Amino acid sequence: MTGITCVFLFLLLAISSYIAHARPNAFGDILRLPSEADAVGTRWAVLIAGSSGYWNYRHQADICHAYQLLRKGGLKEENIIVFMYDDIAFDEENPRPGVIINSPHGDDVYNGVPKDYTGEDVTVNNFFAAILANKTALTGGSGKVVDSGPNDHIFIYYTDHGGPGVLGMPTNPYLYANDLIDVLKKKHASGTYKSLVFYLEACESGSIFEGLLPGDLNIYATTASNAEESSWGTYCPGEYPSPPPEYETCLGDLYSIAWMEDSDIHNLRTETVHQQYQLVKQRTANDNSGYGSHVMQYGDVGLSKENLFLYMGTNPANDNYTFVEENSLRPPTKAVNQRDADLVHFWAKYRKAPEGSPRKTEAQKQVVEAMSHRMHVDNTIKLIGKLLFGIDKGPEVLNTVRAAGQPLVDDWDCLKAMVRKFETHCGSLSQYGMKHMRSFANICNAGIQAGQMNEASAQACVSIPSGSWSSLHKGFSA
Ligand SMILES: *[C@@H]1O[C@H](CO)[C@@H](O)[C@H](O)[C@H]1NC(C)=O
Ligand SMILES: *[C@@H]1O[C@H](CO)[C@@H](O)[C@H](O)[C@H]1NC(C)=O
Repeated sequence: MTGITCVFLFLLLAISSYIAHARPNAFGDILRLPSEADAVGTRWAVLIAGSSGYWNYRHQADICHAYQLLRKGGLKEENIIVFMYDDIAFDEENPRPGVIINSPHGDDVYNGVPKDYTGEDVTVNNFFAAILANKTALTGGSGKVVDSGPNDHIFIYYTDHGGPGVLGMPTNPYLYANDLIDVLKKKHASGTYKSLVFYLEACESGSIFEGLLPGDLNIYATTASNAEESSWGTYCPGEYPSPPPEYETCLGDLYSIAWMEDSDIHNLRTETVHQQYQLVKQRTANDNSGYGSHVMQYGDVGLSKENLFLYMGTNPANDNYTFVEENSLRPPTKAVNQRDADLVHFWAKYRKAPEGSPRKTEAQKQVVEAMSHRMHVDNTIKLIGKLLFGIDKGPEVLNTVRAAGQPLVDDWDCLKAMVRKFETHCGSLSQYGMKHMRSFANICNAGIQAGQMNEASAQACVSIPSGSWSSLHKGFSA
């Protein structure tokens, strides 16, 4: 190459990248440069489903869908790290073996999803190690980590059950908000990203960031719900639109499908993160029907003026579909509370099973076990509150909600210690029991010591119930 050609090329690149910056939307199509990847940095994504079990089909379906979306957007497989238990596609309940769908008429989203961290390798420890690119801290899995540099953009998407200050995992322990925030701070301190967007679906997901995520980490987060309410499953049996009749489980989650079905159809060079937030907020509120939640945003809100393209790329097939400020995607008429979706599955299974069949007996047993676990957890925590604070004050202390902007608890080690004391005597909280995390937090905030909690738990629970939900065979959740 001659010197003059070099200079010319350099100028051309400089000018075009200047124009692309000034008018990214108008010129995006003409000026797609080979150097664009360098200008943007590498896009990384971490996708994690925190559940297992066919009754939780929807979380892994969400994650698979997100993977396909990002691949169509141009992210490379090597830059997308997938955590999923991977027990859905070939579960005997799955009417289409080897296939996972995330909407009633949706295509398979399972094919091609990498098995980076599956089964018992879906742990909090591996999730953190992957974010921090600390390979020596990994146990099992593909070894893929977010090996990012200072110009890179990172997208993290988590979906599952949760509770105040806690997110479920298919393994124990669960993921606690303070530990997640510490990891994000460490990642920031390592100088290995330009900006990071975190999408989070879980019950009480606002509590993971509320009063905890600082505004100066170049991190923007949105959550499916505020700190005090459930998030919602959707495309559930008995809803409209409902899954194909052979499915006895919810196919997706309300917030999750709202952002993904939006990203699926638009040119993401023309849609900002903020525009998507608005649209998802509206769709997830579900006309305030009571079957919806309040989508929230946290952290560096200014980052949301950037285009989604920085994090998700864009599908070239959508180049002509610019984002318009209207919600063409209608919310479903109903949705199922995240915490009741397992019951919906067991109940649909029970209803459809032939009279007198082993399947009917099994489904009945599953309904009864799930219900009695719920009653056991609800009742013992209420009782412990009364033992600690008295008959009248007990419920009041347990149900206290701190003012917005404050974290759930000041001493997270105390919170974890209280959970362990409870589980030692009363059995596992399990996915349903996470809803009581605020009560444990309030017990700490009231200054109760671990010894007092131990005594109260021992009094409230003579023995650990034998049902599978209460089993401690996986260890403590804290
Ligand atoms: C990586 O993880 C190991 C094992 O947990 C730990 O000892 C080490 O300090 C970590 N390295 C960094 C850079 O955080
Ligand atoms: C977008 O529209 C232009 C002009 O009508 C057309 O040539 C092009 O094929 C379209 N692109 C896609 C991806 O549909």
